[in-house]
Amino acid sequence: PHKKLGNIKVPLDYTLKGYNLMKNLEIHDGDIYVCTFPRSGSHWLLYIITLITWGEEPTKDTLKECYFVAGATYNDEDVKQAKSPRLFWSHFPYQYSPFNQQNLDKLKCIYLARNPKETVVSLYSLWKTASNGERYNPGTWNEFLERFMEGKNMFGHWNDHVSGWWHHRHDSNVMFLWYEDLKKDFDNTVIRIAKFLGYSLTTMQLSVIKEKTSFNNMKATKDGKIVSFTSNEAYFRSGSNETWKDYFTQEQALKFDQLVPFPYDYKEK
Ligand code: A3P
Repeated sequence: PHKKLGNIKVPLDYTLKGYNLMKNLEIHDGDIYVCTFPRSGSHWLLYIITLITWGEEPTKDTLKECYFVAGATYNDEDVKQAKSPRLFWSHFPYQYSPFNQQNLDKLKCIYLARNPKETVVSLYSLWKTASNGERYNPGTWNEFLERFMEGKNMFGHWNDHVSGWWHHRHDSNVMFLWYEDLKKDFDNTVIRIAKFLGYSLTTMQLSVIKEKTSFNNMKATKDGKIVSFTSNEAYFRSGSNETWKDYFTQEQALKFDQLVPFPYDYKEK
């Protein structure tokens, strides 16, 4: 079961009121918008950004105060009065931005994308294993994969999602990132993120961020759940780029490469 906002399938707990809240919101200096296709590493990036900008790890309280998911319902005043920098986050494609264009242009936007093969496996595993099919039943792997290739899962087609932001990668307020870069070259990628947000990091700060946001650390976080519907242990599944090989048959991989090509190669440095 999903719900629709416009033409986009969204989680059941999203509301039109929540979605509209950000449309005409007054943007404050330093406000940040993080956008991803689900399971592309949003929580990792959000932790990193929080450590860069707030200088501290998010807690349940600070998350509630300053961290807003577009589509979920909030009290308008809480959002308006939240302490700066506010962190907005969504899975909506560029074409369905929860902000109007004028507001979007005022935000510092970071888009994070990941190898779609690993993304679809991560998504499938989340619904199948981590939530035991209770939240959404993904069906069989093959059924889920077919739906993904047709763009029939939540938040639209992966290709549209990524290309929507790719077209804006040179906008001065947009940074386009790959999960793979965070994995391969964490230090320099985090330095780039900090610079984009107007912060510089000492070597010490960088190593604290690296330590606190390591996969093992995030998976083992015992201080409160990072997501509400499953354990941190289950949500942070493998943090790898390779597990798709255990899921895709050769035939499925060939078809997938045709329909959802991984555009990492055309990345510009
Ligand atoms: P896997 O299922 O492949 O492990 P999101 O937060 O957007 O839902 O993305 C979740 C994916 O990001 C999960 O992928 C999760 O393990 C991975 N991830 C989260 N924190 C990570 C980290 N510190 N290092 C590597 N991967 C991480």
